[in-house]
Amino acid sequence: MTTQEKSTNQTKFRTDYKAPDYTVSSLYLEFDLKATQTRVLQKAQYHRVGANNELWLDGVNQTLLCINVNGLPFSDYEMSELGLTLKNLPAEFELHIETEIDPQNNTSLEGLYLSDGAYCTQCEAEGFRKITYFQDRPDVLTKYTVKVIADKAFTHLLSNGNKIESGELADGRHFSTWQDPYNKPSYLFALVAGDFDVLHDNFKTRSGRDVKLELFVDKGNLDKADHAMASLKRAMKWDEERFNLEYDLDIYMIVAVDFFNMGAMENKGLNVFNSKCVLANQATATDRDYHTIESIVGHEYFHNWTGNRVTCQDWFQLSLKEGLTVFRDQEFSSDIGSRALNRIDAVKVMRGPQFSEDAGPMAHPIRPEKVIEMNNFYTVTVYDKGSEVIRMMHTILGEENFQKGMQLYIERHDGTAATCDDFVKSMQDASNIDLSLFSKWYSQSGTPELAVEREFNDADKTLTLTVSQFTPATQDQSDKSPLHIPIALELISPEGKSQPLVIDGNKVERVINLTDARQKFIFENIAKDTSVVFLEDFSAPCKVKFEQSLAELITIVKYARSDFSKWDAMQRIMVDALKAGIDNGTQLNEEIVALFRYLLTSNVKDLALLSELLTLPSFDTVASDYHPIPVDAITEQLHAVKSFLATTLLSDIAARYQTLSENGDLDATSIATRALKGRLLDYLAAADWQDVESELETQFISDNMTNSLNALSASCENKRTSHESLLERFKDKWRHDVLVLDKWLALKGRLKGDNTTNAIRAMFESGEVDITNPNRVRALLMSYCMFNPQSFHARNGEGYRLLTDLLIKLDKINPQNAARLITPLLSFKRHTDERQLHVKAQLQRLADLPDLSPDLFEKVSNALNGA
Ligand code: TRP
Ligand code: ZN
Repeated sequence: MTTQEKSTNQTKFRTDYKAPDYTVSSLYLEFDLKATQTRVLQKAQYHRVGANNELWLDGVNQTLLCINVNGLPFSDYEMSELGLTLKNLPAEFELHIETEIDPQNNTSLEGLYLSDGAYCTQCEAEGFRKITYFQDRPDVLTKYTVKVIADKAFTHLLSNGNKIESGELADGRHFSTWQDPYNKPSYLFALVAGDFDVLHDNFKTRSGRDVKLELFVDKGNLDKADHAMASLKRAMKWDEERFNLEYDLDIYMIVAVDFFNMGAMENKGLNVFNSKCVLANQATATDRDYHTIESIVGHEYFHNWTGNRVTCQDWFQLSLKEGLTVFRDQEFSSDIGSRALNRIDAVKVMRGPQFSEDAGPMAHPIRPEKVIEMNNFYTVTVYDKGSEVIRMMHTILGEENFQKGMQLYIERHDGTAATCDDFVKSMQDASNIDLSLFSKWYSQSGTPELAVEREFNDADKTLTLTVSQFTPATQDQSDKSPLHIPIALELISPEGKSQPLVIDGNKVERVINLTDARQKFIFENIAKDTSVVFLEDFSAPCKVKFEQSLAELITIVKYARSDFSKWDAMQRIMVDALKAGIDNGTQLNEEIVALFRYLLTSNVKDLALLSELLTLPSFDTVASDYHPIPVDAITEQLHAVKSFLATTLLSDIAARYQTLSENGDLDATSIATRALKGRLLDYLAAADWQDVESELETQFISDNMTNSLNALSASCENKRTSHESLLERFKDKWRHDVLVLDKWLALKGRLKGDNTTNAIRAMFESGEVDITNPNRVRALLMSYCMFNPQSFHARNGEGYRLLTDLLIKLDKINPQNAARLITPLLSFKRHTDERQLHVKAQLQRLADLPDLSPDLFEKVSNALNGA
């Protein structure tokens, strides 16, 4: 057997990788675009590089019209549901294949589809096989020439690379031909045809080349395109300065579409973006939207080197491009904005969704070992933990060595498909630092737990920290072993001064390396009552067990050099306090109230950081310390503590609130001011401050979306009597802007109360929410499942039933989206037996469906297997 028998729901293993037997030296594609009958012609030059004369071509959902080899009709092939096996092939040949596809009825948003009247493609990971028969795997790279033919109503006909020809045809049709000079795998192919408005700009690279920049948006949206364009130029400049990487084509295009499964896609020279990750102006987008857009535009741009010029050998290596590119976009955001706030955001993702993925039925290492549906592995583990693994290498090597490693990696692998091992090897070779133990982070899943014991020796003034590591078994992997864990530390004297770290008479710079199951670190010259900032800046993606007194944590909040660690200590304080309230009815400690007052009246410079410091931990953060999760008790305690703080500190909060003014500008100070204003307004609404209604109204009607939404959300969260009328006014004002209405949907999803579940069901049933658009569905359902625990986890199981009913519908329309939305059902083991039974019944309903997609099949069967 030369070609594996392929079938749906089959598990593929990383270790089964085989290089292809044939490679393609050039590929010509011609698209004759028609809504339900698009013709795709391909001519490919093949030559044999392996031992076999058979060739497997992936291909699904299309009609094969014609197949020629070297100009002659070819019939020596077998066809299955998943593709073709061509047999008895010569060593060199030209393959000519013609197929027909149906973009209009392609609701999966993968392959070629129509998004609100525009043709567009999404090929990553395995969507190219829905367009034509090809070796749809990332290690088959070739040069593409693409001719696009369509009605002239589609004014712009786009593909990767440079436009080499265009012209008129008969019957009101026209064409454009594009050529991409760089080799690329099929997942980076893109085609777009539509009628757009275009924002033009340009960028001069460091070496002096002129690059044309073009941003395509739906007609009438040009007033929302400037921020994305400015972000792109900042990203291009930053990559030159920090990574020494320059853009390589003469043109860079971004197209915004309304129907898209993810944030954006890095197709070579022709990025396709979810419109919500592009469009922004002051009236419609929040400060957070602006930030998200900037980081995603950066992310896709950075892929040009980490992903496109150097791509992945196979999809098990996905973190090679995604972990690294997330690291790069996080560094971009941190260099041009606030490092601490970006770190806080990243750590929230790790401690929330990522730790929970690692603890559930879909646990996998950042480089997975086995996959049924690749779309299921675009995960917080591959992306965000992947980025943490790169960040740890950066911490261990330092910036200079890390950049040397990057240059070596690109030098060695430019134009090819590489592996995660290749990356680590480049880092090791460039730095001469041994990363052999470190590389286990790629193969071991689960969240390591660090336990810290401390001992202070008064006589010789030493502080001994004994650190042990333990990774609990995960569903995919029972045996775990010690990892190389870089632990950043700060020791703070009782006077609030940072102390040098001295071990064995040598000064240590910030980081100690844990490589054994248990290790002792003896710090010399330490004063009694020194405070320990352990895992400063979250230097490794681990949980920490370390007993620290309230006094020590308060010292850290006040004096730590790392703003991130101040926030981290503050969260610890509040989680401990909330738990004491839940478990023992303990009242909030006066020292904590005093700390809040200290912060409220302090002159912390960064008001956005201050706003984070004053924010209580999320439901999930508190829940992560419980088994089973006391859903109602946590929600009620969070509410009670917020009200208590708000009422106790009302005069300080109101006084601080009244000092805050900004005029809607987009500079960091104005953004930070709005963040703090929003935070305080929420407390004022909770405390029923005398002026709160008029203040909510003032902010609500402001022409700045951040202020307006903060007011609306404060009213909703605190169930002010005004909230219903404000919601109606908001909906009416924005009825023509679907992206703004998504914010309204998200607020509806998290409204507390007994009606929410039924109201959401009704919104889907009446068609008020378009179930075929992922943005709509996700806005409403994600906020419901993640931020409305009392409704979603209702003890009668109605929340789980609602989600499952929708998943059943959605699986037929868009399995990729369905599989992403099932996540909240997967962590059922953390809940009470009663809730577990309800969830398992719903999972069983899904498992019993006759044509469940591979996407849901993989997740549902893993969940039930682990039950
Ligand atoms: N590579 C894209 C990114 O980094 C991810 C992506 C976009 C994607 N669209 C997709 C992945 C569709 C799978 C399916 O950010
Ligand atoms: Zn990416």
